[in-house]
Amino acid sequence: MNSTRRHPYQCWMQILLLMSAAFCLSTTSIQAETPKPYATPNAPLLGSAWYPEQWPPDQYPGRWEADLALMEQAHMNVVRIGEFAWSTIEPTEGHYNMDWIDLAITLAAKHHIAVVIGTPTDAPPAWLTNRYPQTLGMNVDGKFREHGSRRQFNYASPRYRQLCALIVTQLAKRFGHNPNVIGWQIGNEYTDESFDPATRAQFQQFLKTKYKTLENLNKQWSTAYWSQTYTDWSQIPMQNANENPGLLLDHKHFVTATWRSFQREQVDILRAVILPRQFITTNIGGLAWSDNWDHYSITADLDLASWDDYVGQGHLQASRNAMLNDFARGWKRQNFWIMETQPGSVNWAPINNALDPGEIRALAWQAIGHGADAILYWQWRDALNGQEQYHGAIVGPDGNPNPIYAEIKQLGHDLDLTRAVIAGTSPHAEVAVLHDYDSRWAIDFQLHTKDYDQEQILLDFYRPLQSIAQSVDVVEATAPLDSYKLVVAPSLNVISQPLADHLVTYVRNGGHLILGPRSGMKDQYNSLNPQRQPGPLVEALGAHVDQFYALDDKVPLSFPPDSRHLSGSPRGKADIWAEVLTPTAPDVHVDLIYGGTPSDTHGWLDNHAAMITRAIGKGSLTLLGTLPDDDLMYQLLSKATSEAHVSIDVRMPYGVELCTRFSPTGNKVLIVINHNKTPQSITLPKPMHELLTDKTLTTIDLPTQGVVVLPTESSQ
Ligand code: GAL
Repeated sequence: MNSTRRHPYQCWMQILLLMSAAFCLSTTSIQAETPKPYATPNAPLLGSAWYPEQWPPDQYPGRWEADLALMEQAHMNVVRIGEFAWSTIEPTEGHYNMDWIDLAITLAAKHHIAVVIGTPTDAPPAWLTNRYPQTLGMNVDGKFREHGSRRQFNYASPRYRQLCALIVTQLAKRFGHNPNVIGWQIGNEYTDESFDPATRAQFQQFLKTKYKTLENLNKQWSTAYWSQTYTDWSQIPMQNANENPGLLLDHKHFVTATWRSFQREQVDILRAVILPRQFITTNIGGLAWSDNWDHYSITADLDLASWDDYVGQGHLQASRNAMLNDFARGWKRQNFWIMETQPGSVNWAPINNALDPGEIRALAWQAIGHGADAILYWQWRDALNGQEQYHGAIVGPDGNPNPIYAEIKQLGHDLDLTRAVIAGTSPHAEVAVLHDYDSRWAIDFQLHTKDYDQEQILLDFYRPLQSIAQSVDVVEATAPLDSYKLVVAPSLNVISQPLADHLVTYVRNGGHLILGPRSGMKDQYNSLNPQRQPGPLVEALGAHVDQFYALDDKVPLSFPPDSRHLSGSPRGKADIWAEVLTPTAPDVHVDLIYGGTPSDTHGWLDNHAAMITRAIGKGSLTLLGTLPDDDLMYQLLSKATSEAHVSIDVRMPYGVELCTRFSPTGNKVLIVINHNKTPQSITLPKPMHELLTDKTLTTIDLPTQGVVVLPTESSQ
């Protein structure tokens, strides 16, 4: 072993984490508490999901040692174990068998590999389902789930939670003080809600707590519509589609609150027992973008956010993956872990192609560039049987390395060379893109046009900003905004009065805010804002949306003659959605209008404002009521970043990504990745020391998927 390599827990910081007990049901609280900083010592770590229970020593003697030795040779230093091992840990009710975990942890320590323990509550054993059938979840079609897959349990079942509490307590007592255990993962990718009658009664109780009276609920949901008026709480249905929009939004809040309390019970058990230095997380699935529940709320009770970064079919889409990593960093506004990523291919896409040579290394470096402090693969080795036999793995069914092993080993070597400068650093951005679950849900319940894909729309705003400013935060709309020079809110559909006040304060204090289409149409109950769009921001904007239109064809956009931008004939095209904006205050500036040449007409839109700006206090508020094409979007955001005085480091060639992580003292680590299919050469402003080659360079030559790591001192 390289003598300079430090054990991941050698300098594990003793951080006391006071967990907030607040069980937040409100969607309107502004300026969420700043998360407690959590720093992964010796980041970035490298590792894998490992399932020793699938290879019992009596049947596979020496297998665990062989696995761990191969991991150590690949410079890995962390494994996650246990998250699907309930039937091995508790083979019969109340009889625990945890010696094997102890042995696995001891052997891992021998190979300088730290352990994250997963609580096994995502896959209850058959005896449990059999003895306690009331713990089974019901799908929305009214059918109870069954044993034989995973996630069959009902997240709201008190009995299930009690059984979870028992096993988590046992694990916490046994391993909560183990020096080689560095953290805990609760469950696995919380996914399926339940629609059984008992859960529905909990939903009704949830609504009662929120609305207090049926009269209030009936008012906020406008239940006079279609005779939906409720005269008893027990009449209220529970659905996840085709229902009253107020009910649908509240169901999302209920799902969030229920998963949060499911998680909170385990957090509380663990925190009461385990060492303060052991972190608690959960791995968020759905390729980060999943919307079953609110990720900000769920991660609020955790020390660390982590997510599962899979490409699936196709290849790494650099901007999208950059955005998703920034989105994950935004959940707690701090560094995060990639708890799972694919070693080559997955088994669940329509076509499970492998990533190209070099691509998983580039993906890992990109995640690190965006704030990942650990990269773990799923998985080390496929079980010989079970539903995931075809999934990519690091070693094959014979236990010997698959071809991808060498690339992961190279990454491990890279990390050994760079850990000393990367540990303790994190990205920093002057530009933020806002994301909001209520808005996302409200739009998705009633798309109005099938083309309104919010992930794509967020990306269409994010991509030019990233290429201009390099570093972009994606944060919750209620996050503190003071540190940003420019804030862009692509689809902030739900704007309550407190949120509007928060945004106006940011602008008055010197911030520049650009709102995208569909802004402020709804309030926090998913009711239409009676002021028209953008609801409580109408007055500050000095304008409102006169009418919105779903587009079946693109419409030209022009700059008006007195535009702050270049004036003239058509400059681009509006797509998918168009809002006619009507200024009511004299100091509102029209930036863009619909229509092009007089002979080419576009119904209701021609010559009406598509984008307006008003100076407010020391800042400005812009409403862009449509989705311009890529070139025009770039032009508009380029102008906005320059007017907001966003600092711009160095421009990179197309497809070359520059990520910067900063130390608390201002030292920088530049990570440059070539995502192109062709090599790229970049001349540096001055000679710099490159860590992976240990050379001082004035030009960097990057092969396809090539990576360089360049540390700079704060004075440079
Ligand atoms: C994840 C899940 C893992 C494994 C993996 C396969 O969503 O957490 O347990 O199933 O997918 O890609």
